[in-house]
Amino acid sequence: MAGPSLLWPESRAPSERPAVWINAAMSLDGKLAFSGGKRATLSSPRDLDRVNGIRATSDAVLVGAGTIRKDNPSLRVHWERLQGLPPLEGIRRDPPPYRVVLGSLRDIPASAKIFDGTLPTLVFSTRGEDVSRSQGSLKVVACEGPRVDPMVPLRWMRSHGIRRLMVEGGSAVLSTFLQGGLFDRLTLFVAPVLVGGSLAPSLVSGRETHTEGDLTRLRLTASEPLEGGLLLTLEPGVGPVVA
Ligand SMILES: NC(=O)c1ccc[n+]([C@@H]2O[C@H](COP(=O)([O-])OP(=O)(O)OC[C@H]3O[C@@H](n4cnc5c(N)ncnc54)[C@H](OP(=O)(O)O)[C@@H]3O)[C@@H](O)[C@H]2O)c1
Repeated sequence: MAGPSLLWPESRAPSERPAVWINAAMSLDGKLAFSGGKRATLSSPRDLDRVNGIRATSDAVLVGAGTIRKDNPSLRVHWERLQGLPPLEGIRRDPPPYRVVLGSLRDIPASAKIFDGTLPTLVFSTRGEDVSRSQGSLKVVACEGPRVDPMVPLRWMRSHGIRRLMVEGGSAVLSTFLQGGLFDRLTLFVAPVLVGGSLAPSLVSGRETHTEGDLTRLRLTASEPLEGGLLLTLEPGVGPVVA
């Protein structure tokens, strides 16, 4: 198992925000899920162990409201999955990592796992949100709209002691953080499958690109085969020019 990739890149993060570690699993054609966003299991079992290792050493795990609506994730650490990993630096069982949602609570049913009261949960939404929903373990932070400037939640979290933020998706959130350069590491499990179609969400959506100058460039720092797939580790910045 890749020991170094479970060490947080904290020293590279600017002091105004937490270190941001983005993790995702995608198909060979860059899809995150099935058509219409139906959840697809693209990670291998050992990759899921690794993902839990990142969660267990983070202070907070962030997803977009779209992922909550589609996947209803618990965003909890599955402690039982950590047994095959090397000793992890900075595991935080108590308090456990916050779960963080970017977007509105609209269309998220009261039965959603993020409302189960078992973990501290932050929601960063625009001003139309009902902040009176903040109670118990749930805190709603109203941000200036119409879209949340991602630096607002990042600064808020940093000033509230969150130094390590894992970002798990989905497509809109990954676009914001990746194309905005708001990350210190990206780990990407590439599954040897093709999803196909045009209605399955891609790793990034975001703005249209027209020239090489519009490309978001990343630097590949490691690649390793993992259970038939490929685990890539990347950082922001320019590597060898490939396009
Ligand atoms: N393979 C993987 O690793 C992985 C991981 C996670 C998710 N996924 C997949 O990703 C898909 C979901 O992706 P998605 O793009 O639909 O959803 P998403 O990125 O999870 O969430 C999009 C929503 O987040 C909110 N949002 C994002 N940026 C915002 C901003 N700057 N300000 C305010 N709100 C913001 C908006 O919520 P409002 O609509 O409330 O405005 C937006 O509709 C699902 O199919 C899921 O299965 C895959």
